[in-house]
Amino acid sequence: MRLILLGPPGAGKGTQAKLLVERLQIPQISTGDMLRAAVKDGTPLGREAKQYMDRGSLVPDEIIIGLVRERLQRADCTRGYILDGFPRTVTQAEALGKTLEALHASLDHVVSLEVPTEDLVLRIAGRRTCRNCGDMYHVRFSPSKTDGRCDACGGPTYQRDDDREETVRRRLAVYADQTAPLISFYEARGLVRRVPGTGEIPEIFRRITAALGT
Ligand code: AP5
Repeated sequence: MRLILLGPPGAGKGTQAKLLVERLQIPQISTGDMLRAAVKDGTPLGREAKQYMDRGSLVPDEIIIGLVRERLQRADCTRGYILDGFPRTVTQAEALGKTLEALHASLDHVVSLEVPTEDLVLRIAGRRTCRNCGDMYHVRFSPSKTDGRCDACGGPTYQRDDDREETVRRRLAVYADQTAPLISFYEARGLVRRVPGTGEIPEIFRRITAALGT
């Protein structure tokens, strides 16, 4: 299955993608995670991307498109994948369409996770991520058992640099301006499954799997 998870910052794309990986046994491809790994490794791509990410802006399309095109050709993608955070502009969506065409493949579904803005801000403000394994927590909604430590690997948890209030506002505005138009882009192609993204995490997962028929 080839799937896009679409939704604003904090909608729960990463959280739900991890559950879908278990269920569907296909990889999660998160451009945000790929960029953060490049930043952490101090690569030229990471240094360039950081300037945009710290401001809450999008990294230029040509960088992201090249990154994803290369990733989709790896062996673990043959049975499908979950795209998390890509595409984010109409240009990226068109480039994805061309890449899929060249690979004689097509998208199956686009899940649009819908969450009110006030919930998004609460979720992002409380998010903590493990520095070692990337597992995600929320100080209020899903805290780790030991404050500041990951349940899975014991590594330290941290707050993302782009989760500061001012940057979050910018990310939400960028989403409304550049990414939300993708809902009608994919609706015109009959691919969108709208899923309410509020409530308990397992309940949202059930809604998604019901929408996908898996
Ligand atoms: P990226 O990493 O993709 O961030 P994002 O899209 O802003 O999304 P988030 O990771 O903030 O949220 P999420 O929807 O995954 O929610 P999560 O599951 O974590 O991108 C970061 C930056 O990289 C961009 O700003 C841009 O600069 C750059 N970038 C990335 N891709 C790009 C692209 N394609 N083009 C150009 N630039 C790109 O959940 C959030 C919190 O809420 C967590 O704490 C979680 O525990 C909690 N939570 C989840 N579900 C629930 C629930 N149901 N109830 C209560 N709490 C919940």
